[in-house]
Amino acid sequence: MNNNAIYSTLSQKFLTHFGASHKYAAYAPGRVEVLGNHVDYNEGLVLSAAINFGTFFIASPRQDKTCRLVAGDIGEEVSFQIDNLLPQETATWSNYIIGVLDRLTKDTEPTHGFNAMFLGNIPLGAGLSSSAALEVCAGKALSAMYNITISNIELAKIAQAAEHRFAGVKCGLLDQISSIYGKENSLVMSDFRDLSIRNLPLGKDACFLMCNTNAAHALVDGAYNERREKCEEAAKFFADTLDHPVTALRDVSSSELNSHADKMEPTTLKRAAHVIGEIERVTKGHDLLLQSNLKEFGQLMFESHQSSMDNFENSCPELDIIVSVARKIPGILGARLSGGGFGGSAVILLHPRDVEHATQAIATDYEKQVGHPCDISVIKPSSGAHTII
Ligand code: GLA
Repeated sequence: MNNNAIYSTLSQKFLTHFGASHKYAAYAPGRVEVLGNHVDYNEGLVLSAAINFGTFFIASPRQDKTCRLVAGDIGEEVSFQIDNLLPQETATWSNYIIGVLDRLTKDTEPTHGFNAMFLGNIPLGAGLSSSAALEVCAGKALSAMYNITISNIELAKIAQAAEHRFAGVKCGLLDQISSIYGKENSLVMSDFRDLSIRNLPLGKDACFLMCNTNAAHALVDGAYNERREKCEEAAKFFADTLDHPVTALRDVSSSELNSHADKMEPTTLKRAAHVIGEIERVTKGHDLLLQSNLKEFGQLMFESHQSSMDNFENSCPELDIIVSVARKIPGILGARLSGGGFGGSAVILLHPRDVEHATQAIATDYEKQVGHPCDISVIKPSSGAHTII
């Protein structure tokens, strides 16, 4: 379903379910991570884009303090009181919204609850940040409804806090910032140290394919948090070792890493090598984009994936197959895993004229090697989150 169709289906479902139309609505897109893997929580630089798939959240205030939340796709409803916001043990999708609400209303005492429903077209578990999109569109609609003024950066932080506290993933700010700051035909260049964010035009000669491996991997959240801890350990090692201040791996260069490699615990060394290499690749990638040098930019994407395989160990056989298949297809400029890893999707950079033959070639080869198909979509860098009414 395209975005207009989703919004009208959702509006109709809301009307049928609650017996009256919604008064507030917001949209937030998913994101693709183009270069800069597991760099956000190391205060580094990342290139990403908001995508043309997203989620709508619509709501109306109620007279009483009850909040009724409905997941529009499955029709499941959760209800709670606005002055008693607690994580839910079942219908855990609701925690992304309850978590946002908890932070959003922490300095106010809302006098009323609401009816709300959401619906989107971001494939779940595909590494396209459907949860960040849900948090952000809920945050936009609910802050409008409660008349709470917050900046976009505050909203990103509130949404991140919802993931940390209510979903247990110690994620960085990448997903939320990309969803909020996306711009059509542009990448989002984020500096996670000072939180400065810029849009870089991508030009007409480039587009992306997302290849969802459909690979379900257990322990993803635990593995994510464990990677983060290793990065913090590495930063601490360099803070104690180097003679300049180190607060995060952002402060360490690859030559510093190489000169102290022999003193580091091998796994911590590999994790740090990935992050430091990624930050350097994003810096190079940014300059290459300004020169419209997509060919060399694509090579950095391949290098990024190789580092995920060798150093960060956050890839999986299915992602590796997509990337190695992509390397051999004429016209494909670059490919890598996108997002947390351990499954999910690979992102492929190519010229729009190569989309058709590349899609066919990847689909055929992937199915032959893996035994089940992958889902391939064309991704267009798109505008970020916004309120509708
Ligand atoms: C997930 C997290 C982000 C980021 C990426 C990896 O998407 O939510 O904060 O760390 O993984 O770059």
